[in-house]
Amino acid sequence: MTDSLTLRRPDDWHLHLRDGDMLRAVLPETARHFARAIIMPNLVPPVVTGADALAYQARILAALPDGMMFEPLMTLYLTEDTDPDDMRAAHASGLIKAVKLYPAGATTNSASGVRDFARVQPVLDAMAEIGLPLCLHGEVTDHDVDIFDREAVFIDKILDPLRRATPGLKVTMEHITTKDAVDYARAQDDSLGATITTHHLVINRNHILVGGIKPHYYCLPVAKREEHRLALVEAATSGEARFFLGTDSAPHSDDLKENACGCAGCFTATNTMSILAEVFEAAGALDKLEAFASLNGPAHYGLPVNQDTITLRRTPASYPEKIITGVGEVTVFDPGFPLNWSVLPSSV
Ligand code: DOR
Ligand code: ZN
Repeated sequence: MTDSLTLRRPDDWHLHLRDGDMLRAVLPETARHFARAIIMPNLVPPVVTGADALAYQARILAALPDGMMFEPLMTLYLTEDTDPDDMRAAHASGLIKAVKLYPAGATTNSASGVRDFARVQPVLDAMAEIGLPLCLHGEVTDHDVDIFDREAVFIDKILDPLRRATPGLKVTMEHITTKDAVDYARAQDDSLGATITTHHLVINRNHILVGGIKPHYYCLPVAKREEHRLALVEAATSGEARFFLGTDSAPHSDDLKENACGCAGCFTATNTMSILAEVFEAAGALDKLEAFASLNGPAHYGLPVNQDTITLRRTPASYPEKIITGVGEVTVFDPGFPLNWSVLPSSV
């Protein structure tokens, strides 16, 4: 039995860091284990221009504790008013690594997102031309579509037509939650990648609803039936290049989660690597963890893999239940099973 596992240092291809006090508190939780992360632009107001992204990048770097290394990979929030020239300039300077599309109203801080997809076609065309990837929150927002069906309907109604209309566009289907998404991703060429979160590998919809509402398991896209979770585990542990880690770690203070209208988001930055080691070991696929967490993402984004490594050791992991922030406590995701793999401090 393997008791030690050394991987190239992982990256997180979908991360919410927020701003101000929250940013200062959660950034070390990611930077401790991860070299880089794609930083979500859904601040209030959102990160829509190159100047916004540059300023946000500076705030992130200023919040990084001395002695920690971390590279924020910046993104722009696509709106119907996004200026293709501004986007081209932000890409040409190396500042941004992707553009994020939220259907308006799909999730937290998505009000400025896209309603009429035709209006963003010129930006999508420019992205295809310059090789800038599009990150997609893949859920429709129609009120008459059941929340558990919104991802599958998005694939048929929006994603597939969008990709056909924009040949060559590199797309990341983010935080996929269904077997439908796994099957769709597998049927495409390598211009399409898909991220999978830590929590969607662990919970199904029963975890949210059985025995009382568990707000810390509520996120978007919402966790689906067990058969879908099993499809995600199979995809993540397959080693296939199109599937890679994007935690969607999304901090909200406990008062906003444990609320009559609780916010969507699971905070997994702190214990993701220990949880993934459990999930991959249970699937008999510890040897595929490096592909999922450290190799496939850089390949999709056309970036080099990290040169340094982290080591996981089979020894009980201990993590705080909550992270203290200047805007309240943030509950760390509880996988509901013991964590027997720890990231060695010498490697962080
Ligand atoms: O659960 C989620 N939380 N899903 C998202 O798409 C957004 C995120 C957030 O910003 O809190
Ligand atoms: Zn997200």
